Amino acid sequence: MGAAAQDRLTPAGVSESAVMKAAILVESLTGHTWKAAEMLAGKLSQEHWSITGLTRMRQPDHAAIQEADVVLIGTWVHGFFVVGQAPWGLSTIAALPSMRHKKAAVFCTFALDPGKSLDKMTRAASTLGVEVIGGLALNRGKLPEHTEIFAERLVAAAHSP
Ligand SMILES: Cc1cc2nc3c(=O)[nH]c(=O)nc-3n(C[C@H](O)[C@H](O)[C@H](O)COP(=O)(O)O)c2cc1C
Repeated sequence: MGAAAQDRLTPAGVSESAVMKAAILVESLTGHTWKAAEMLAGKLSQEHWSITGLTRMRQPDHAAIQEADVVLIGTWVHGFFVVGQAPWGLSTIAALPSMRHKKAAVFCTFALDPGKSLDKMTRAASTLGVEVIGGLALNRGKLPEHTEIFAERLVAAAHSP
């Protein structure tokens, strides 16, 4: 039987071989980033992605990461609101297991101004050997809208060669 013939269809009619699998790793102090991660998981599931795990970055689910095509890394912005902003837990990102040959995307939640937090997260994630395909800073007061935009961009980026 040829490879194409082995493809099974999910109830939604999507070929299983085309289903994108994502693991989500999060740092969250007061819950906004966790909420954003849950919203993202919901929106990506609607796009027929499979979420292999949603866990705290400090206790990464190694099996979920192993299984994933894309790893989403999220945290929150700390600083002095208009200066000195940085993503919380940069060293935790850099300490994650190597993820060679996987794609990754980064996101952070913020209140006022994320500064260059995304750039810093992208650099930290890149040290893990991943290809960073995107990132978005999400205003904590606009999580439904901003997670929608992020999910749309992820779907487009992950499926492009
Ligand atoms: C100590 C502290 C410092 C913060 N500094 C900033 C900041 O510099 N810029 C900003 O936009 N938001 C700042 N925030 C707001 C958080 O980034 C925002 O509330 C975020 O959504 C919190 O995520 P969490 O609920 O997942 O912990 C700060 C929050 C705290 C607690």
